Amino acid sequence: MQIRTDLKPLHQVEADALIIPVFEGKKEERFGASDLCASGEVAGKPLELTLLHHPPGVAAKRVLLVGVGKAEKFTSAELRKAVGAAFRHLKAKSIKNMAFALDTPYSGAEFVSAAVEGAVLGDYEPDRYKTGNDKKSVEQFVIAASEGTFAEAQSGVAHGQIIGESQNFTRAMVNEPANLLTPTRMAEAARAMAQEFQLDCEVLDQPKMTELKMGSLLGVSQGSAEPPALIVLRYRPEKAQSTAHLGLVGKGVTFDTGGISIKPADGMEKMKYDMAGGAAMIGAMRAIAQLKPALTITGFIPCVENMPGSRAQRPGDIVTAMSGKTIEVINTDAEGRLILADTLTYARQQGCTHLIDAATLTGAVAVALGHLNVGLFSSDDALRDRVMAASKAEGERMWPLPLEEDYKDYLKSAFADVANVGGRYGGAVTAALFLKEFSEDTPWVHLDIAGTAWLDENKPFLAKGPSGVAVRTLVRLAMDWKD
Ligand code: BES
Ligand code: ZN
Ligand code: ZN
Repeated sequence: MQIRTDLKPLHQVEADALIIPVFEGKKEERFGASDLCASGEVAGKPLELTLLHHPPGVAAKRVLLVGVGKAEKFTSAELRKAVGAAFRHLKAKSIKNMAFALDTPYSGAEFVSAAVEGAVLGDYEPDRYKTGNDKKSVEQFVIAASEGTFAEAQSGVAHGQIIGESQNFTRAMVNEPANLLTPTRMAEAARAMAQEFQLDCEVLDQPKMTELKMGSLLGVSQGSAEPPALIVLRYRPEKAQSTAHLGLVGKGVTFDTGGISIKPADGMEKMKYDMAGGAAMIGAMRAIAQLKPALTITGFIPCVENMPGSRAQRPGDIVTAMSGKTIEVINTDAEGRLILADTLTYARQQGCTHLIDAATLTGAVAVALGHLNVGLFSSDDALRDRVMAASKAEGERMWPLPLEEDYKDYLKSAFADVANVGGRYGGAVTAALFLKEFSEDTPWVHLDIAGTAWLDENKPFLAKGPSGVAVRTLVRLAMDWKD
């Protein structure tokens, strides 16, 4: 799909369909829509869609009115969804050339970027392995800009394209089945991306992990015939304006059977998305490489397959983590925290001053928050506030959950320093506290995305399957970074 900015006045824009946002309570008088507004058929409610054929006064063949709610509540996040919904509606009708226009004061880079992101995200379908020839494709998406805001619109288009494509990169990676995306292949995909966008990429293999004494990570991978891989993606700014070194750590379990503590068969096929945290970090690094924020950022993505093979670790096994702490593995299905433990230690050793991890860590986070909010935990209030602010601006909802030391009692082991599970209650909290044992005193935020990384149903603006959550928030955090 080609995305570009056009300077033609709105009525001259030639397109199969022109998308026009309509605010709730504000009548649209153009395109012959005034009667529809007066009758209440077009009310401007969020995501309301009304397709007008042969609208008067414009060159476009159709106008699609898309509701965006009340002007007081309108944000770029609302716009992203509205454009996504409009785009998917038109694409389903095989429309190939679309244009979009938004009046001032919403024609700056922030809103244009969100509109482009909405289109790019709406365009993605998880249909790579469908062989039919009935796939629809959109050829052109044009932003109709005005003279005064043309430069802003152009930079918004470029920015939105990078963000949208990087989030789709993450979604496509998450959607890959585990027979095709093994830890080795995931590392290869990261390496290819790094080469394309001039990032430094190193992949730590099993012998290297043994040398580093990553006993916690290796305990998980030993049950699989597939070797583990720890992906390290390095971004260094040309002119750093910060002494901070941000570490982005993402869980990359390419398939989670549960191991010997095996999961029930029902729904297990979805456990291919247990690398969504890792894929989010790789997608974020892809955008970071292009947008070039002014601080050093390194992505660390431990990739393993959690299998119940004959070499698999058993409940009751005790492993020694890279940090020296011993862990009693009560449940082999709590594997994400085990691979993240050593990766957090490694990231600290590599000089990270701030750490953020994203992981499909617990079913419990979905019990607590449903599928709407990412569970956020932090050892540092300032970093938490910055991640929260970025998430709000990006419309990726995150909700803070407690990380009080008192919960640590739940993780007591009679035989080792710590157990890898904390019992029946507060599962998302105890998982986070387990990780904190390894992030230690480095300011750290943990994002539990188990409830939000996968959509069970289509949304008007997004196909079902991987959501690509956290990519936008992380990129914004990096771009807005201040010491
Ligand atoms: N990958 C799962 C968490 C998960 C569950 C992700 C549902 C997405 C959807 C994780 O490795 C896991 O199995 N966690 C266990 C922890 C338990 C054994 C303490 C869980 O949540 O049941
Ligand atoms: Zn598990
Ligand atoms: Zn898992």
